[in-house]
Amino acid sequence: MTSSSPDLSHHLSGEARERLPNPMKVIWRRVNSSGRIDVANMANGDPHHSLYPFKQLMFEVPSVAEEPDPVPAWRTGNCPTQFFHSYKDEPCALSLRNAFQYTHGAGLPECQKTLTDLTQFFYAPPDHAITLTLGNSDGITKLFRLLGERGDHFLTDEFSFPGMTNAPLSYGIKWVGVKMDAGGMIPEEMEKILQNWNEASGRRPHVLYIIPVGQNPTGTTLSLERRQKIYAIAQKWDLIIIEDDPYYFIQFDQPPVETPSDDQGNYSKRFAKSLIPTILSMDTDGRVLRIDSFSKIIAPGMRLGWITSNRMFHDKLVTYTDSGPQHPHAFGQAFVTEMLSEKGWQMDGFCRWLQSLRLDYQRRRDFLLEVFRREVEPTGYASVNVPEGGMFVWIEVYFERHPRYRSEPPVAGSSTVAPRTNVEVLLLELLEKFIELDVVIMPSVLFAIEEHPRWIDDGARHVPIRDRTRFYRATFAGTEETIEKGMTRLGRALREFFDGPPLTSRL
Ligand SMILES: Cc1ncc(COP(=O)(O)O)c(C=O)c1O
Repeated sequence: MTSSSPDLSHHLSGEARERLPNPMKVIWRRVNSSGRIDVANMANGDPHHSLYPFKQLMFEVPSVAEEPDPVPAWRTGNCPTQFFHSYKDEPCALSLRNAFQYTHGAGLPECQKTLTDLTQFFYAPPDHAITLTLGNSDGITKLFRLLGERGDHFLTDEFSFPGMTNAPLSYGIKWVGVKMDAGGMIPEEMEKILQNWNEASGRRPHVLYIIPVGQNPTGTTLSLERRQKIYAIAQKWDLIIIEDDPYYFIQFDQPPVETPSDDQGNYSKRFAKSLIPTILSMDTDGRVLRIDSFSKIIAPGMRLGWITSNRMFHDKLVTYTDSGPQHPHAFGQAFVTEMLSEKGWQMDGFCRWLQSLRLDYQRRRDFLLEVFRREVEPTGYASVNVPEGGMFVWIEVYFERHPRYRSEPPVAGSSTVAPRTNVEVLLLELLEKFIELDVVIMPSVLFAIEEHPRWIDDGARHVPIRDRTRFYRATFAGTEETIEKGMTRLGRALREFFDGPPLTSRL
């Protein structure tokens, strides 16, 4: 965002415009920023730190500097350890005195600074601010309310993550799915929707929700070229982009991050270079709201993440948080601030962990693909994609080879989005077979964005999404044992489902 950036305030929802700042926090902030040092603070119900029933927090963590590939060593109990310490009465990166007090809606200043530096290091957005969240679910649902008005349509991938897309339905927001291929969202398809939009359907979509790396559920990753095209379309059609990127650091098939002996201390820079540029990093207008989370790279129960946005949206988010849920809990903020501090892993150590973690997930992906090729592919009834990041594969099943598959030609005058095959019926029947054989994977129908004939422009050539729900989402985040069992049972289930007589023995 620069001084010539467009005014994007027209994207705010009525609710966001009408929210008032918390008046007590306004006074508190004024005094805090005035530089006064001897203020008798009798304004708030702040419990005194001497009454907190703890003195220190101590996290025992892998010593990443001592192990070239710390994740496998950690898993098997063979990794040396170190401690992140937070104290109430001794110096540390985030004193527990401050950490456990009421604070700013954007988060504790020390943690906010740490995450601002991290964001700057990896994405270098022109002029953005950080608002801490309880993870991406919290961040995204806040953003839907910040931007969405009853009757609005938002854009997303035609198969998207219902954990998030369900959220704004109840306050009257509808989704429009953009066609995808093996490379994720197709920018030209998105532009077609915007170009052909009929205002009789409501205002043209002004928000795009997208998962650029290891998309949930398809596992696809957007190329740099597609990212650039999508950003250019967003500029042309005045879209806000919500970039939900929890798998950003889990990108596969990158050359190893070497540490030449004459170039110590630059590991993190080399690691950062191996990552595909985020859409945020291209954001000269301030129209990208990026959502990051520690869920996939530290632990989901951390419940900590952050939104990077232009300052106008940041202020609105803070206003909401100050009179609503308040800042995220102190435990996670203390962990993260110490982790990236001088006494913690620092950025180099954090990147060593991330590099080792992504290799671990890559090995799990490769193991799944190997077992799939052995147990499932020979059935001739399914194939799988090779994701470049994240935690999911997208398994395609050839339902047209099933004896009960039905397909009817389009009938003139009938809806362009009505199914013309029984793929969905077979998909759910096969799910029952999977469950009967003790394997669970997610049917694509759960992720499919409902279509409407109004935004389908290629009429008779269009294949309704309900005829394209021939996929299941499977994760390789589990153990080799789970993957081995799961894929073997999947192969058996497919044989029984397509070929007939049930098998008696089970793995
Ligand atoms: C695409 C996507 N967004 C958001 C989330 C939720 O993340 P968090 O745990 O940070 O709320 C997930 C979790 O699976 C996800 O896959």
